[in-house]
Amino acid sequence: MIIIKSKEEIDKIRAACAIVVEALNEMSGMVEDGITTYDLDRMAEEIALKHNAKPAFKGYRGYPSSVCFALNQQVVHGIPSNKTKLKNGDILGMDFGICKDGYYGDSAITVPVGNISENAKKLLEVTKESLYRGIKKAQAKNKLFDISRAIQEYVESNGYSVVKTFVGHGIGSKLHEEPQIPNFVPSNGNWGKGIVLKAGMVIAIEPMVNIGGADIKILKDGWTAVTIDGSLSAHFEHTVAITQNGPEILTEYSIN
Ligand code: MF3
Ligand code: CO
Repeated sequence: MIIIKSKEEIDKIRAACAIVVEALNEMSGMVEDGITTYDLDRMAEEIALKHNAKPAFKGYRGYPSSVCFALNQQVVHGIPSNKTKLKNGDILGMDFGICKDGYYGDSAITVPVGNISENAKKLLEVTKESLYRGIKKAQAKNKLFDISRAIQEYVESNGYSVVKTFVGHGIGSKLHEEPQIPNFVPSNGNWGKGIVLKAGMVIAIEPMVNIGGADIKILKDGWTAVTIDGSLSAHFEHTVAITQNGPEILTEYSIN
């Protein structure tokens, strides 16, 4: 069931999203050669707790930490560690969600560590732009897969691939609600064009894009997803409310 949110509920999601944005901005400012993903995770959790918010991922299906990282060829869900030290030239995905007053916010960005290659820069730009192209289609009366198609077409026209293993999702009083939001148009015929989007739906759109092939595998830790071919991967995510006046990005941030 897809839940249509009232204005009051969207206000609560917006408040949750502001805390997520604060943490992502704070972590972005700390990203530099030598810092560990453990240090970043501590900071994000501290910010959540300061606002009486609960880190949404910690304990979710047994996930052990507050932030999901994705370093270089990692796609998503990398567990923070004091052994994972960032190096100049890396790219780092940071995915964070919290729950405040019963409502969730969820967002991810991928940031450069120092100077990165032209290839890596282009990957970040294309992935972020694909998210914004998807968001543009998050309009009442559009179909769900209008979002998916916009993302997939932009990514593939740049020679990259979208990850199909993980998808975006509805969000509200749960972290993951219906509908699922694939970053590709499912070829499985009877899915048609997807459900009709309505004002009051709140969704997390989150393209994951690989320079090489779309396939991923999960490492032995049971969480970290990496590209099979070892190619670089990037991830951007926004929580978006569909309103009468078009999409409203609830996790817009100052950095990036
Ligand atoms: N932001 C991701 C998502 O939207 C991460 C959640 S996975 C978790 O699904 F298990 F780590 F929480
Ligand atoms: Co999400």
